[in-house]
Amino acid sequence: MSLDHLISIRDLDYREAVLLLDTAEQMAATQSRRVKKLPTLHGRTVVNLFFEDSTRTRLSFEAAAKRLSADVINFSAKGSSLSKGESLKDTALTLEAMGADAVIVRHSSSGAAHRLAHAGWMDLPVLNAGDGTHQHPTQALLDAMTLRRHFRRDPSAPDAEPLAPGTDLAGARVVIVGDVLHSRVARSNVDLLTLLGAHVTLVAPPTLLPVGVDGWHCDVDYDLDRALGEEPDAVMMLRVQRERMSAAGGGFFPSPGEYHTAYGLDSQRFSRLRDDAIVMHPGPMNRGLEISADAADSGKSVIVEQVANGVSVRMAALYLLLAPEGSTRD
Ligand code: CP
Repeated sequence: MSLDHLISIRDLDYREAVLLLDTAEQMAATQSRRVKKLPTLHGRTVVNLFFEDSTRTRLSFEAAAKRLSADVINFSAKGSSLSKGESLKDTALTLEAMGADAVIVRHSSSGAAHRLAHAGWMDLPVLNAGDGTHQHPTQALLDAMTLRRHFRRDPSAPDAEPLAPGTDLAGARVVIVGDVLHSRVARSNVDLLTLLGAHVTLVAPPTLLPVGVDGWHCDVDYDLDRALGEEPDAVMMLRVQRERMSAAGGGFFPSPGEYHTAYGLDSQRFSRLRDDAIVMHPGPMNRGLEISADAADSGKSVIVEQVANGVSVRMAALYLLLAPEGSTRD
């Protein structure tokens, strides 16, 4: 792969996106063995630099790095010298001085990962674990991996097989619902799923759509029932990001109850999904707000599978950015 960093899905071309997904499948195959650890990154040090809270992304990057035999240093903003006013630049200089080989960064500011990679403060690969409302590339990759495992081009065929490695998502129809305005997951998924040939429809109230969304490579609808009536292959519910709404003064929807009525995947809507449709959510979920417990815990839900695929995708990203040419992934 020609990339030095993984900052945005927009930096990937089609071939690189498929390579990442195929490599993730190879990584997943190694994870069903009794000994899951590969020697590939032995002696390398990866830093998890998290300025914002995370459960899935931080733990799965840590698991991915350790399964590739790297050492992992976890840095969280809470309890660090950031509270004494230390800048991102000085934090970067400190990490390189300590011998880090790669930095995984999550930050509340859109553009923080790009700045860390390109400001010239350090010469290390940077992997974006989510920056503000901008991008969350490994989330989109794990979502695409999950979709690729479930989508059948012709579900009526008697022996319909999952998509083979090397294929894309052409023909898949995905509806992404909810707080698009604050969602780096939605932006990254529109970029990646459409790059792979899927058709994406965003559904949200007008207050939760960003300015300029008309220019994105997807359809936009305000009516969830109409979008679900098109019988999509997958429905991805987005977290209502109440912390970002409060910081902006609130007022994005009248009440949680009304939001759930208009935009929640409740039991009624869930019961109308196609038998082979899947329900996705990046987590963490607000049960009872954007998604009902019935939908989240149902057989159609692939939410736990998304988390498992996250480890494989992050192993693939670390492998492709850090492993020496020709090193083993078996
Ligand atoms: N999906 C996701 O980014 O979850 P975390 O915030 O727990 O990492």
